[in-house]
Amino acid sequence: MKYLSTPIYYPNDRPHIGTAYTTLLVDAVARYWRLVGAPTYSVTGVDEHGLKIAREAESRGMSPQEWVDHIVTRFTEAWDLLDMSFDDFIRTTEDRHHRTVQPFLQRMFDSGDVYRDHYEGPYCVRCEGYYAEGDLVDGNCPIHGTPVEIHSEDNWFFRLSAFGDRLLAHIEANPEFVVPETRRNEVIGFIEQGLDDISMSRSALTWGIPLPWDESQVAYVWFDALINYVSAAGYADDPERFERQWPAWAHVVGKDIVRFHAVYWPAMLMSAGLPLPRQVAVHGFLLVGGEKMSKSNATQIHPEELVETFGADGYRYHFLREMPFGADGSFSWEGMVDRHNADLANDFGNLANRVLNMTAQYRDGAVPAVADHSAAEEQPLVAAAAEALEAMTEFEGFRTRQALEGVWRLFGAANAFVEMTEPWRLAKDDAAADRLDQVLNALLEALRVGAVLVSPVIPAAARRLWEMLGLPGSPDDGPLAETGVFGVFPESTVTKGDPLFPRIEE
Ligand code: MSP
Repeated sequence: MKYLSTPIYYPNDRPHIGTAYTTLLVDAVARYWRLVGAPTYSVTGVDEHGLKIAREAESRGMSPQEWVDHIVTRFTEAWDLLDMSFDDFIRTTEDRHHRTVQPFLQRMFDSGDVYRDHYEGPYCVRCEGYYAEGDLVDGNCPIHGTPVEIHSEDNWFFRLSAFGDRLLAHIEANPEFVVPETRRNEVIGFIEQGLDDISMSRSALTWGIPLPWDESQVAYVWFDALINYVSAAGYADDPERFERQWPAWAHVVGKDIVRFHAVYWPAMLMSAGLPLPRQVAVHGFLLVGGEKMSKSNATQIHPEELVETFGADGYRYHFLREMPFGADGSFSWEGMVDRHNADLANDFGNLANRVLNMTAQYRDGAVPAVADHSAAEEQPLVAAAAEALEAMTEFEGFRTRQALEGVWRLFGAANAFVEMTEPWRLAKDDAAADRLDQVLNALLEALRVGAVLVSPVIPAAARRLWEMLGLPGSPDDGPLAETGVFGVFPESTVTKGDPLFPRIEE
């Protein structure tokens, strides 16, 4: 089972292109696995407890529950707009989550890994994170650069310090547990420094899930949030589904929350006696003008601002093609327009248009039947299709950029094939009718395979092309190992339509 998760987002902030990237990456890989034919479960959601939400609600004169009910649609609507295909959307205020967090924490308590102590130290409300004095930069949060608060209270601690050796042994034995390698090394370095115990509850807050053994305290929001991954897998309600779905195949996270996912979370699971996820896949940050986006500097870009011009498919393609997995990437409007025009309007869209038009013009849309594609001149196309299919496996390591480069080499080969065979000349020569049949069938087959291969990334365009090709079902029906293989294009009638991706002027 390929259980894939995004982090659950703080709903105070609207989705921006950074949070949308995490979500998109999971969506594309989940769509890839469904195309392969693997049982898949993809989950996203929102992180609704904690001080940050409680304060924001208060400042608006609302109860926290009213506030989160009001803002959750920011996320559900943004993901609909971007054509996301999640199987589940989890909110930490849901009953199924409460009924998971309490027994989970109780198991940790029963394991003897929890004790009561006094806590005092800096806290960043925006991170919802505790820091040591030494982590601060000029007395401010190292992530946000904003002032921290000093929190001092009696609460419950998780004996994280006892898990260092077991965590290191697990990472050692499972080289794929944290990817890419730079992040894995960072995690190893962090654990080797020695782990401190961490506070896992809050006494001064009521907006959260009460600890089962001490109802005067609520779970610290990160403990609450991480447990969402097992809540969504059916821990409380559906033990059979939980058995099938857990452990997760991958938790996809940004580089700022690696420690929570690759250190705290596996230690919590060890303490509760549950299996660890196969992988924590860590991506970089999307920068704008070389800088981190910030709400205060109004440099945040939101998906709807780009979808208006590029459409959901154009949006999805851009970020999945441009972001190198694991590294930071930079967004620019000019870069997005150039990439759109070169790859989508030209290489792919124009190819589709030309091939459909030629089939309409020279064969009234009736696809010529041919025996096979064994002719020597067709081999570069056949080979490029096989290589593109092979490149699709890059999705399994979240390298969407490499996968798409491979698929676009197929479109490159098809465009070169058009230039080389010059179907417009063949059409003028009655003696070349058979050869034209071969050429058109090969090009249509390249489009069919292409539609299958692009379907995890640009699902709507893939479906439209499929319809224009007159094919039954849909390009993502799979399984990839059959539908993605270059064969003979079947009997059908194709229709021409509007360009798949009109050019965008600067
Ligand atoms: N609520 C926690 C996660 C709990 S998961 C059990 C949280 N939420 S968040 O809304 O602040 O951020 C969620 C994700 O968005 C993180 O993975 C973070 O790395 C990602 N991103 C936020 N800004 C980003 C960019 N500029 N670029 C790429 N990803 C970014 O943390």
